[in-house]
Amino acid sequence: MLVLAIETSCDETAVAVVRDGREILANLIVSQIDIHARFGGVVPELASRQHLQAICPLVDAALAEAGTSLEQIEGIAVTRGPGLIGALLVGVAYAKAIAFARQIPLVGVHHIEGHILAVQLEKLVEFPYLALAVSGGHSHLFRVEGIGQYQLLGRTIDDAAGEAFDKVAKMLGLPYPGGPVIDRLAKVGDASCVRFPRPMLKKPNLDFSFSGMKTAVLTYIESLNTQISEQQTADIAAAFQEAAVDVLVQKTMRAARQEGLSRIVVAGGVACNSGLRSEFSAACRKECIDVYFPSPLLCSDNAAMLAVAGDAYLERGYRSASDLNAVSNWPLPEAALHFI
Ligand code: KG4
Ligand code: ZN
Repeated sequence: MLVLAIETSCDETAVAVVRDGREILANLIVSQIDIHARFGGVVPELASRQHLQAICPLVDAALAEAGTSLEQIEGIAVTRGPGLIGALLVGVAYAKAIAFARQIPLVGVHHIEGHILAVQLEKLVEFPYLALAVSGGHSHLFRVEGIGQYQLLGRTIDDAAGEAFDKVAKMLGLPYPGGPVIDRLAKVGDASCVRFPRPMLKKPNLDFSFSGMKTAVLTYIESLNTQISEQQTADIAAAFQEAAVDVLVQKTMRAARQEGLSRIVVAGGVACNSGLRSEFSAACRKECIDVYFPSPLLCSDNAAMLAVAGDAYLERGYRSASDLNAVSNWPLPEAALHFI
């Protein structure tokens, strides 16, 4: 099945053409980072307007790159939620319009479901596996039994990991989005300058908390009582990244042990982080667990990832109705329940 996938949940307009939920023919992204950077974060109203401007030419460009036309598209997958409601609505309305005009089936997919299945576009990872979804809005651990079958094992009780990276970067006067900048600086920083707390590690559950870590960084910066130098900025970035990675890796390894799972998939924008990748690889090597990271383009927001679930649902005959609406707050296991 040839699927056109559309993603507009936050600050990236993304369109992909994917065959059989496996073969990417086009995967295009228009980023709005430059527009939001001067405000230090995503401005929802601006995001919606940019999606509106970008979506039509991007669909044309994706079809051209895939060497196909709208007439050949057999189904549409679109992010239904969670995300910024105005931004989501652009993609959902556009997808519904094409589906109606072409009389082809449409399916609304959960954004995080897309992230945790994106790996299947590069490597067929056998189910069941443990998925750590770490993005700007999520830090969630799922047991993944198959497409549509997710059990939530743990989640952040406050901020998401990506949000913490972005906020710490802001405290350090670094540009938005902060994750990639902290990652880069951490390579030249000395993490031993300060040890930030590892919240929730002593608790036996599988939940995370990043809010206290963020406050600890702020308190430390304030305690220096002076304009911080470039080297100090890099050192703080390294110490923060070390603490965040430590918590994410240790809790995920605990989850794998408890669930008896020998495969871990790390997904979402924060999965681009080089420290996270190397620490996970080292921990998994020790415990004979296979760890998989999608390549960076498939970790951060993209549309191809939606086609994995989208294709499977469409093949099984599932269709979203023509009154499909966007949902800003949509918990994953519940979201997928009606598909199985
Ligand atoms: O999955 P994603 O592209 O969008 C959401 O669904 O939120 O994730 C975006 C988040 C941002 O918070 C960004 O700072 C973070 O992923 N991120 C990173 C890195 N690259 C992106 N965080 C840490 N290290 C990175 N290299
Ligand atoms: Zn995302």
